[in-house]
Amino acid sequence: PLRSVFLGVGSALPARRVDNAELAAQVDTTDEWIVERTGIRSRYIAGEGETTASLATEAARKALEAAGLTPADVGLIVLATATPDNTFPSSATKVQHNLGILDCISFDVHAVCTGFLYAVTVADSMLRGGNAKVALVIGAETFSRILDWEDRTTCVLFGDGAGAIVLRAEETEDRGILATKLHADGRFADMLYVDGGPSTTQTVGKLRMKGREVFRHAVVNLADVLGEVIAAANLTPDDVDWVVPHQANARIIDATARKLGLPAERVVLTVDRHANTSAASVPLALDVAVKDGRIKRGDTVVLEAMGGGFTWGAAVLCV
Ligand code: ACO
Repeated sequence: PLRSVFLGVGSALPARRVDNAELAAQVDTTDEWIVERTGIRSRYIAGEGETTASLATEAARKALEAAGLTPADVGLIVLATATPDNTFPSSATKVQHNLGILDCISFDVHAVCTGFLYAVTVADSMLRGGNAKVALVIGAETFSRILDWEDRTTCVLFGDGAGAIVLRAEETEDRGILATKLHADGRFADMLYVDGGPSTTQTVGKLRMKGREVFRHAVVNLADVLGEVIAAANLTPDDVDWVVPHQANARIIDATARKLGLPAERVVLTVDRHANTSAASVPLALDVAVKDGRIKRGDTVVLEAMGGGFTWGAAVLCV
């Protein structure tokens, strides 16, 4: 069958790394509290000149290099973000221009922390539907710019960054995206949202979250969608070589893996160094595990995420 084959991954982080001790000097928190509750030890924070589109462009360049392709090969850019450079045009078209691509399909998708899974699913459908041959799928965020730095219950949890993958439509028996599953339930909007926007307050707004409720829903929804996507790919949890989860909280990741009987050694964890980078977290973690040699050609990898909306989703990828 015609499938979306994974050719390469790349990522980008802001220059400035901020550890928990540095945060504790600004807000009423401690390294111990943050590590014990979340597993986070540091995050990267965008500085002047670093934006969602600039980080996305760097990640995209590296992904194309890893894939052995050039910008001229790209027919589709899908960029997942909740923190675009501007309300419009899309950050995807900024990346397109930065890469020097004169014409291709280019747009943003918005599903907050599940954005990368939504973007992968849209790109996979469009590639198999014949809209393009090669796609850049990007997750990029600068959540530091929508955080309330006076609110210790949220500002310690997030970071900035970008990750990108290259997919190409190919006839193949055993490689590529084998299954995807997406969900959304808008009833829970007030548990995780930004209190501003162009059509309401005409401000960008700040992130608000009921952490404990989000935690409870995350474990249930993620375990459900993981079971669902693994079955849709005609696999069992034993067939899964690696899980690359959304990096919100080490305890959510542990609890989800335990529910499915997946050993912790097969779960990629980067929340300690990146914190929660929303739509960027899955491709950032994938890049780490590909670069350090854990994820290799032939491996079966499950990607999963849950975020504001609520939205949640998962994908099975044979590398
Ligand atoms: N430093 C020190 N103390 C803090 C901090 C902090 N940074 N933040 C909160 N506290 C205090 C609270 O005030 C509270 O004190 P109190 O008992 O005197 O009222 C105490 O710590 C416990 O607070 P809880 O919120 O109950 O702590 P909990 O164990 O639930 O952990 C956390 C909070 C880490 C936010 C957890 O609920 C969580 O991870 N939830 C999921 C959130 C998440 O992952 N969201 C993102 C998923 S979707 C997406 O990525 C967009």
